Amino acid sequence: MFSTHQSLLQKIELSLFNKLSIELFIKRDDLIDPYVSGNKWRKLKYIISTVVQAKKDGVLTFGGAYSNHLLATAVACQKAGLKSIGIVRGNELTAQSNELLQKCEAAGMQLEFVTREEYALRNEKFYKDELVGLYSNFYLVPEGGAAYLGLIGCQEILAETPNDFDCVFVAQGTTTTSCGIAMSLPEKTTLCVVPVLKGFDSKAEMAKLFGYSGFSKETIDELLEKTLVLGDFHFGAYGKYTPELLQFMEEIFKETRVPLDPIYTGKAFYAMVNWVLTTGVTNKKILFVHTGGIEGGRAIAKKENKVFF
Ligand SMILES: Cc1ncc(COP(=O)(O)O)c(C=O)c1O
Repeated sequence: MFSTHQSLLQKIELSLFNKLSIELFIKRDDLIDPYVSGNKWRKLKYIISTVVQAKKDGVLTFGGAYSNHLLATAVACQKAGLKSIGIVRGNELTAQSNELLQKCEAAGMQLEFVTREEYALRNEKFYKDELVGLYSNFYLVPEGGAAYLGLIGCQEILAETPNDFDCVFVAQGTTTTSCGIAMSLPEKTTLCVVPVLKGFDSKAEMAKLFGYSGFSKETIDELLEKTLVLGDFHFGAYGKYTPELLQFMEEIFKETRVPLDPIYTGKAFYAMVNWVLTTGVTNKKILFVHTGGIEGGRAIAKKENKVFF
């Protein structure tokens, strides 16, 4: 349905790394599709094929007012000839509240706006059972696509790159993408994760998702052994950003023509540059996984009068 051939492996010359003998590559998953971009298609690929094979009517999933996952699900389902239902946090909202929700509706998604209290129940078994009863032939996907099939899709990112990187950097929200990458990490590579939520216990959250997916404690410990957490780059909290971050993203774009977003990839790229410069590492081959989010990033840049891509 969507081809990952568009996802180039791009070599980047960064003036910040002059004379450091750092080879930097970006896996451009943001180029897969404008809406089903970055990690979104990776997470949805096997979910969509399962739904088609199981002859379900469509996908039911969850998201906030600006959820890239909701829009990606709506567009992927539309393309696969499936229905989609989005349970949206905030009963004060409507499909006209913002451009993203309008696009979800235009792609055929049935939007159900619920109170924050009801939304908080989204992972409770009794609530999910209720939804399954109500929408019986729909396949339920957790918020952010955080499910085993999502991990399997994300495992394919590194299958499209050489296996001699010293470090792989990636932004982290639900941990689905980083867990998938951890599962396919070459032996000598370190996975550097950049959580975008304040106070997020990355390894505990990754262990939880692996656990839900049926992995033993021993395997989980093994998978997490080569994970380095760069936990100080949330820029205040999830969804927060600073003028310094926006300025950094603009400079990176001017030099490399690679667009970043201030919620995920901008923070992760900043953390990667900071890590290289503060640790003084040299002779490293680094891979940065671009997980998309450009549509959302563009909307924020516009709001801040900082349109540079
Ligand atoms: C653009 C972007 N990058 C990174 C992430 C984090 O990925 P994950 O939730 O799989 O940890 C997300 C959230 O899904 C995202 O939208």
